[in-house]
Amino acid sequence: MLYAKNINCAIIVIGVYMRLKKIKNADTVVLNSPFTINNPKEYKGKYKETFKKEIYVEIGSGRGKFIYEMAKINPNIMFIAVEKYASALYKLVKRLELDPVDNLKLVCTDASEIDDIFDKDISILYLNFSDPWPKKRHHKRRLTSDIFLDKYESIFFDKKEIVMKTDNQDLFEYSVVSFVNHNYKIKNIYLDLHNADIFNIKTEYEEKFSKKGFRIYKIEVYK
Ligand SMILES: C[S@@+](CC[C@H](N)C(=O)[O-])C[C@H]1O[C@@H](n2cnc3c(N)ncnc32)[C@H](O)[C@@H]1O
Repeated sequence: MLYAKNINCAIIVIGVYMRLKKIKNADTVVLNSPFTINNPKEYKGKYKETFKKEIYVEIGSGRGKFIYEMAKINPNIMFIAVEKYASALYKLVKRLELDPVDNLKLVCTDASEIDDIFDKDISILYLNFSDPWPKKRHHKRRLTSDIFLDKYESIFFDKKEIVMKTDNQDLFEYSVVSFVNHNYKIKNIYLDLHNADIFNIKTEYEEKFSKKGFRIYKIEVYK
């Protein structure tokens, strides 16, 4: 039964994860926003000195609910949202236009570029509800695959710290193994985050999936 339930979950998750409404002028809006960094490679190795703050990055920010709320309550940190689709970042740009924060910037690019953009710049990397890529032949596209964990090696300033949340048990288990294989130590692990007594800012997907009754997993690792 559990197997059948997991299969159903996977189908639902794939269906919902892949749906992103394309917004017609999103590219132009994101490109011309003062909140967007259009030449991120020019800041490589200089983010901290440029913004005079510690740098926290979220890859796959989507429409940016989590990173915007994090930026609001942590004015001493510079947050950078890395997202490959302008149609997703569009909503974050509109939110920032209505209610600006000066410690949040957007980079519209694929995560495969991450080590061309950052070099010893980042303090914490957030991976929230990353696409699960359920087929084995697609596992290398997961943001916690060996390929990506190798890329993350050079982006951290000092201590490497990654915080991941997901509703997808298979992706979670895969990621725990991947982190450990890359010599990360586990700082905290939550197998049912919403029943743990800790402060938590929910992402858009987290809200959506927890309302549907999905359990939320979280892991914080460091080395
Ligand atoms: C399932 S959504 C989650 C959005 C958000 N983190 C949340 O929890 O609400 C995954 C997001 O990651 C983005 N994404 C997936 N692969 C990416 C990659 N290789 N580089 C940058 N963004 C990526 C997708 O475009 C999508 O917006």
